Amino acid sequence: MASAPSDRRPQRIAVLPGDGIGVDVTAEAVKVLDVASERWNLPLELVEIPWNADRYLETGETLPAGALDAFRDEYSAILIGAYGDPRVPDMKHAGDILLGIRFGLDLYINFRPIRLYDERLCPLKGKTRDDVNFVVFRENTEGAYVGVGGQFKRGTLDEIAVQESLYSRKGVERIIRAAFEYAEREGHRKVCMADKSNVMQHGHELWQRVYWAVAEEYSEIEASHLFVDALTMQMIRKPEAFEVIVTNNMFGDIVTDLGAALQGGLGVAASANLHPGQTSMFEPVHGSAPKYAGTNRANPMGAVLSVSLMLDDLGHRQAAEVVEAAVERSIQAGNTTADLGGSLSTTEVGDALAAFVADAVVADSR
Ligand code: NAD
Ligand code: IPM
Ligand code: MN
Repeated sequence: MASAPSDRRPQRIAVLPGDGIGVDVTAEAVKVLDVASERWNLPLELVEIPWNADRYLETGETLPAGALDAFRDEYSAILIGAYGDPRVPDMKHAGDILLGIRFGLDLYINFRPIRLYDERLCPLKGKTRDDVNFVVFRENTEGAYVGVGGQFKRGTLDEIAVQESLYSRKGVERIIRAAFEYAEREGHRKVCMADKSNVMQHGHELWQRVYWAVAEEYSEIEASHLFVDALTMQMIRKPEAFEVIVTNNMFGDIVTDLGAALQGGLGVAASANLHPGQTSMFEPVHGSAPKYAGTNRANPMGAVLSVSLMLDDLGHRQAAEVVEAAVERSIQAGNTTADLGGSLSTTEVGDALAAFVADAVVADSR
């Protein structure tokens, strides 16, 4: 991830809790962020933005006109909880806001780390923390998500639906390059690209050509390829084989829920939607889990780990590391919500994480 040098210029953060448990987990993420901000005297200014299903149902508005320009020009980062509400079955507001931000700000890297914080959380037999430790670079601006297509003779027996996947050379190349650059920067030895080029002879053949051409530029890194069906099998059989995975938008969505399961579940999976050098967006991998909304049972750790990714991106490396350590220690101490086997509530986990961040001993607390 890009780390800008920390300086005293104010960094404005847009906080969009969204719907369902997005609200619950974002409150805890902000609690932890506030403590970190105070402890390291960070120049953060949080602005809560209440765009959600309630507001859409009341006003019909999703992403207001001018919002993307404002994010780009006036904000350093965006923190999102989750979007999705059973009263909006077509996901109109979620599509406009969430995908609107990913596409509109051209956040082409969806960076999703798969990290096992305690081996007791892994559903696989005999796997250690070292075995489950890789990252997925999910392409985030094209593929099956572009909404190109249509319906013909809708509602009749002859109806036809077309949903196209789009891949541009530029889009494919920049995500593949980002994966290799990250591998090189972070000292990884391996990158694996997953596609379905045995069937998708046009789009995924482009991925093949671009991947092997870019791989040649990174001769110290071992480049490999798996068809995505085989990737899902290998992620279960041998997760230790992976360091950096790069794949298209839809496959990345699917394999990162699988990856989350290897870490202990969706409650602990974080993501960063990045365009290096520009305003980026951070969110847990999970959705709005409507049945848990407002029950104080949702795990806030995925949201808090997303705050850690955000702090790192904003150049506050030490704060980012301490926030991640807070999650790690809480899990190891059994201070978790029920999804991870513990008995704490959402707010109690948030309190424990905030207390850790406030008190953790660090080598040089600037
Ligand atoms: P989901 O991630 O909301 O929940 C699936 C299940 O995972 C939950 O029932 C729960 O058992 C578990 N879970 C998820 N997050 C948890 C947490 N923080 N703590 C404890 N358990 C957790 O997925 P879904 O049920 O498929 O989708 C619900 C809604 O969310 C839909 O509208 C969907 O489109 C939307 N969604 C939004 C996002 C997003 O905003 N980024 C991501 C995925 C799904
Ligand atoms: C995710 C989600 C989203 C996606 C949905 C809610 C549009 O599943 O962030 O993983 O498919 O990207
Ligand atoms: Mn998903």
